[in-house]
Amino acid sequence: AADPRLQAISDAIRVVPHFPKPGIMFNDITPLLLQPGVFKDAMDMFVERYRGTGIAVVAGIEARGFIFGPAIALAIGAKFIPLRKPKKLPGEVISETYILEYGTDCLEMHVGAIEPGERVVVVDDLVATGGTLSAAIKLLERSGADVFECACVIGLPKYKNLYKLNGIPVYILVESR
Ligand code: PRP
Repeated sequence: AADPRLQAISDAIRVVPHFPKPGIMFNDITPLLLQPGVFKDAMDMFVERYRGTGIAVVAGIEARGFIFGPAIALAIGAKFIPLRKPKKLPGEVISETYILEYGTDCLEMHVGAIEPGERVVVVDDLVATGGTLSAAIKLLERSGADVFECACVIGLPKYKNLYKLNGIPVYILVESR
């Protein structure tokens, strides 16, 4: 049976049509953040999944992976690494460019943030095409990381609760409406 916490999590996500562009259905997680009990339930579900699995690193994707990632990292005693959009990190970086519907985007990570062999979970709010998570996985694997899983609050229905991206499982709490 489905976890009873999931319905409230799903109900707390606002779907905004035509944002930020015509034709895009934007899944807004900010209402969930206004309900501390529901926000905590989402956190707890990730923490219950990853505690005791030997995860050394939580990598969060800019921007909304920075909302969920650090709380998970602190709760399981892992370090947190921000994966940022270009030209935001001051140190030496490695970059991974990925293709969007129109144009490209890029994620960067500080060199030396990760030790080879460290087990990592990648966190973001939402997976749509999987392009962003795929770039994150490549960036981490190029650095010698052992990417254990990706975790998102929301996924497109076609992906269901668990699917794979570059061979890495993607765990989602709820499907986008
Ligand atoms: C959204 C979302 C993911 C990405 C998922 O970010 O937060 O990071 O898109 O899409 P994909 O699976 O098709 O790659 P957005 O592009 O809105 O950027 P932002 O977090 O900087 O606002």
